[in-house]
Amino acid sequence: LADDGSRLWLKYDLLKDAQQRDKYAALTKFIAANHNSPIVASAVSELQMGFQGLLGKKVSASASAGSRTGGVILQVNANAQNLLEDGFAINSQKGNIVISAKTPSGVLYGAFELLRNIQTGKSLSNLAIVSNPKVKIRMLNHWDNANGTVERGYAGSSMWKWTELPFRIDPRYIQYARANASIGINAASINNVNASSRFLTAEYLEKIKAVADVLRPYGIRVFISVNFRSPRTLGGLKTSDPLDPEVKQWWNDKTKEIHQYIPDFGGFLVKANSEGEPGPQDYGRTHADGANMLAEAMRPYGGIVIWRAFVYKADPNGDRFKEAYDQFKPLDGTFDPKVIVQVKNGPIDFMPREPFHPMFGAFPNTTLGMEFQITQEYLGQSTHLTYLAPMFKECLDSDTYAKGKGSTVAKVIDGSLESHQNSLMAGVANTGSDVNWTAHPFNQANWYAFGRLAWDYDLTSEHIASEWIAMTLAKSKAGQETIKRMMMQSLPIYISYTYPLGTAHMMGEGHHYGPEPWLEKSGRPDWTSIYYHRADSVGLGFDRTGKVSNALSLYSAEVQKQWGDPERCSLDYLLWFHHIPWTKKLSTGRTLWNELCFRYYDGVEQVRKLQTDWESLKPELDKETFENVKGRLRIQEKEALWWRDACVLYFITYTKMPIPAPLVPPT
Ligand code: GCU
Repeated sequence: LADDGSRLWLKYDLLKDAQQRDKYAALTKFIAANHNSPIVASAVSELQMGFQGLLGKKVSASASAGSRTGGVILQVNANAQNLLEDGFAINSQKGNIVISAKTPSGVLYGAFELLRNIQTGKSLSNLAIVSNPKVKIRMLNHWDNANGTVERGYAGSSMWKWTELPFRIDPRYIQYARANASIGINAASINNVNASSRFLTAEYLEKIKAVADVLRPYGIRVFISVNFRSPRTLGGLKTSDPLDPEVKQWWNDKTKEIHQYIPDFGGFLVKANSEGEPGPQDYGRTHADGANMLAEAMRPYGGIVIWRAFVYKADPNGDRFKEAYDQFKPLDGTFDPKVIVQVKNGPIDFMPREPFHPMFGAFPNTTLGMEFQITQEYLGQSTHLTYLAPMFKECLDSDTYAKGKGSTVAKVIDGSLESHQNSLMAGVANTGSDVNWTAHPFNQANWYAFGRLAWDYDLTSEHIASEWIAMTLAKSKAGQETIKRMMMQSLPIYISYTYPLGTAHMMGEGHHYGPEPWLEKSGRPDWTSIYYHRADSVGLGFDRTGKVSNALSLYSAEVQKQWGDPERCSLDYLLWFHHIPWTKKLSTGRTLWNELCFRYYDGVEQVRKLQTDWESLKPELDKETFENVKGRLRIQEKEALWWRDACVLYFITYTKMPIPAPLVPPT
């Protein structure tokens, strides 16, 4: 049967090597679980499914191992040593493999780790694994609408069948829950941040309850994105002013009602006063007023409020880079402890490469959460091969120097830098109704990588890629290495033919897909391309030093030093911070113009190399997957040419210089 990708990385195909199978089989003769809970039951059934598939044998489960050896024991032990909530240990102990955790969820994560060890061919002898998640809330944000569309979704329509819920449970919800649990994701907000109030009606709460009931046995809590104007639109109140007593009461009542459906409700996610969405500023109140009012409604419950910091005024004379920082900085220290402010990785909007958001490290008294975008709005959507782990890592590993060297963004996010209790990493999901969930088979790896990094941001991109490849694609070691190389090169290649040298926001309006660097007018005054790239006859780039916007001053002195001097600034970030003359010689020995051309042209060549690499894998790949990716790589090549030619020919209207001869030989 062709592999349609629907099983993601949980394929559990029979291992080909019989000897290897026997070795694993000798250590997995039975399962014993000392705990009777739906989550531990999920762990048991997952192990049974995995052993059945990978090893071809039925393994029975019982409550106790007795005197037996050669089995897998699952233990929930509230006093387990060295473990945090959700963490797990796997040890070879007295002839058995013992998975222990403080909570049922920890046991489930341990079970998936054990299966991953088998899927990736690791030895199960002498196991001594201790694994704790670095971040507490590891969450997917679905931008799915009630009508079945997905904002910035490129893999079909919504995976949530709102018209069928709560009566029909699509089996894919369970597969989704398993996939998430296998990488440690424990939270999901199920609707678009541009939220419809409809999700708070009793009709929809019943549907959301049905989803929550499916996800709960996999340790996943449900969140709802809310529309701040709901007291008016749903409640018929005259205002949604967060300081109005009736409004507060409305939210208290609504929160109580939600808990009648979903007792372990995760909380609210709010996009307010951003891109036309309503919010507290409509009533002269602050983001903190709005967030704290919702936190108050949540007070009796375990849930939280996630308040997004993605705000900007669209001032063509300002610098959007600074706006979230400027709006939120005066509020640092005024948010309720139940509030997490969710900040996008960069200051603009999920560009292929952005400097880390200047809010990270600058808000010691606010719990900041990370928002990454897994769906590839600006990164080739579902047709370009772009492995995002290196981008996530680049941000997390960035040093804010907030408390001296080593104050990385990751340490801001995990709460350790400022001793915050809560921590959050969210990723805007790339899932949809497509049979393989993500349209491009390689986009599955971005979902996978997000979860793995939310659990442990110290894992390397290479390691995560290797795991994913071994569980999904090539069989031979050489094949796996080729695919890993392709994945590791893919982001730099994409950046070369789209946004080299720290350029940003030159995509087509609305669809955000192909190039439109010439965009001069737009519905929003700062949404033109020329606002961002600032090309003129002298040079290219947005000067964010003291001379123009001074956005650089939002960073610590060390970071300013790193990016503030055009001679020392990494070429990857150069045009984010400097307006550089076309004729200026860069550290590569080429002028800016020649370097720009070189990168655009080289990007296209590299896509062609990806095609050749892929072709070499044909003999060992499943036909359907091979043809699927091959077709997408052809689109990628065509569109790399489109980006290259559009951008180079557009910038030539400023430089009036020829494309350097080695790239395009003179005719
Ligand atoms: C981007 C995206 C929007 C989305 C917004 C957000 O601007 O294009 O579709 O709503 O981000 O994060 O809120």
